[in-house]
This record gives sequence, C-alpha cells and structure tokens, in this order.
Amino acid sequence: MGPGTVAMTGAAGTIGSVLREALRADAERLILVDRVPLRPAAPNEEVRAADLRDATAVAAALAGADAVLHLGGLPDEAPLPELLDTNVLGTHHVLEAARRTGIRRVVLAGSNRVTGFHLVGHLTGPDEPVRPDGLYGVSKAAVEALGRLYADKFGLSVLCLRIGSFERVPTETRHLATWLSHRDAVGYVRAALAAPPVPGFTAVYAVSANTRRYWELPAPAALDYVPVDDAETHAADIPGADLAADPAAPQGGPYARPECTLPHLPHPGAGP
Ligand SMILES: NC(=O)c1ccc[n+]([C@@H]2O[C@H](COP(=O)([O-])OP(=O)(O)OC[C@H]3O[C@@H](n4cnc5c(N)ncnc54)[C@H](O)[C@@H]3O)[C@@H](O)[C@H]2O)c1
Repeated sequence: MGPGTVAMTGAAGTIGSVLREALRADAERLILVDRVPLRPAAPNEEVRAADLRDATAVAAALAGADAVLHLGGLPDEAPLPELLDTNVLGTHHVLEAARRTGIRRVVLAGSNRVTGFHLVGHLTGPDEPVRPDGLYGVSKAAVEALGRLYADKFGLSVLCLRIGSFERVPTETRHLATWLSHRDAVGYVRAALAAPPVPGFTAVYAVSANTRRYWELPAPAALDYVPVDDAETHAADIPGADLAADPAAPQGGPYARPECTLPHLPHPGAGP
C-alpha cells in the first residue's frame, strides 16, 4: 500500500526537513504542519500552520490525511509544564484528530531517552520498563502511553519510533551506540508508513546498525526495515572512540546526570 496523503507535524524541524525530501517522492500528497512558516517546494506539498497545543488547529491541519507522522514537539529537556503542553497534550490532539476523522496510521516520534537509565551493558528491548533519563523522557513515555491507549481503546494503528541520535555523522562516543543516520531514518519512516494499518500499538528503537548499539533492532514482525549504516565506520574521527564504554553507566550518558534536569526544575521562591 502506498502512503496516500501523509501529514507531517514538525515539518520545519531538523528531522522533518530531511524526511520531507524523501517522502515527497512517495506520498500522493504531503501536508507539512508546523507553527513556523514553511513554503511548498513541490506540486504535491501543502503547508498548514498549526500550534500543537491548539486542538482545533491540529484537527484542521490533519484533515484529509490517510497517515500522520507526528514529529512536532520539544526535542530536549525543558520545564515539565512546557513538555506536557507541547509533547503530551500535542500528541493527544493528534491522536484525537486521527480517531475522529478515521486516519488509518499514526507514526509517533518517540525517543531513546524513555530508557536512558538502563545500563550500557544491557541490550534493551522495547518491551522492557521505561526508565526515563529526564523530564523530556517522561513526556515521551506519556506520548507512548497515549499511543497505546488509542490503539487499545479505539483501534488506531500506532507505531512509535524511539529515535536514536539523528545526525549526519556521529561526532561523540555515545553516538557510536546511538547514531541514527539520515538514510536509516528515511528507511524506518518509509517502512512505518508502508506497513498495513493493522490496529494496535508497537514501539521500536530507530537506530542504525551500530556495532556498539545497546538497543534491539526491530523484530521483522514489528517493522520491516533493516538499518544499513554503522557508526563504527566513523570511529577514527571520534575522540575517545578507542576506549570501551563503561557497561555500568546509564545509556543516557550526560542526559542522565542531575545537571541536565536541575536547570529546568522550579526554584524555591520563584512563585507558584
Ligand atoms: N533529533 C534527534 O536526535 C531526536 C532523537 C529522539 C527523538 N527525537 C524526536 O523527533 C522529533 C523531531 O525532532 P527534531 O530534532 O527534528 O526537533 P526540532 O526541534 O528540530 O523540530 C521540532 C519541530 O516541532 C515544531 N514545534 C515545536 N513546538 C510546536 C508547537 N507547539 N506547535 C507546532 N509545532 C511545534 C518546531 O517548530 C520544529 O519545527 C521530536 O519529537 C523529538 O523529540 C529527535
């Protein structure tokens, strides 16, 4: 099955900009949704502005779509109210629009940071308990829970891609495990949109075939894509790549440190 009309939220973002170029060749129509201005770059592209925090605007932006690729959101640590508003409520608005209008397939941008406190020495699969490495990871765990709820209760077909480190090339030692190349990101998303819209929820890690990865690749029944890139081919350019990672360290690396979250916690005396 072809992807038909695909709506992509977060279309102006880092990942959206890369995926847009690939998907415009696949989709009959590509609806680009973001709160920042965008311009169509092909006859089958259409731009619709919407703030994810506005349920009515989201429903209008997704009207007519057969599938939604929901990339929009805050991609890193932030105060929890902001993460809840944009990531959690925003995803709720997307799923609600899908339920009401019969959108067959929803693909969610999840994050590896839902399991950042699992240890480097442990090959982690998507069915293990979440162990978020910060408030952002908590928001993405709630995003997954919403996806599962809408699949279980309303029969939507929801796939959550727990995206690794989306970079042109890996540049730091953690990326040797976590890198998701542009080519593999396109491959994962194409497979996610091409899969039959069977009701149910699935989460998979979207990571390249890195020799040092600590996440399972998707089971073929969950998602029909085998990644092709390996961060190891760039190891010579990464300082410290010759040192073995500590198997007892958290997978989230610097994101798992208190300093990552402390600046985003309320200050005593700063008001309610
Ligand atoms: N980049 C990565 O390595 C990575 C890793 C794991 C998960 N992810 C997830 O993938 C998705 C895309 O990440 P990215 O790196 O492209 O982030 P990005 O910040 O570059 O893009 C996010 C987009 O969402 C839009 N957006 C933010 N708030 C919005 C709102 N209230 N209403 C409408 N649009 C809004 C922004 O304008 C932006 O264009 C995010 O959900 C992120 O959490 C990214």
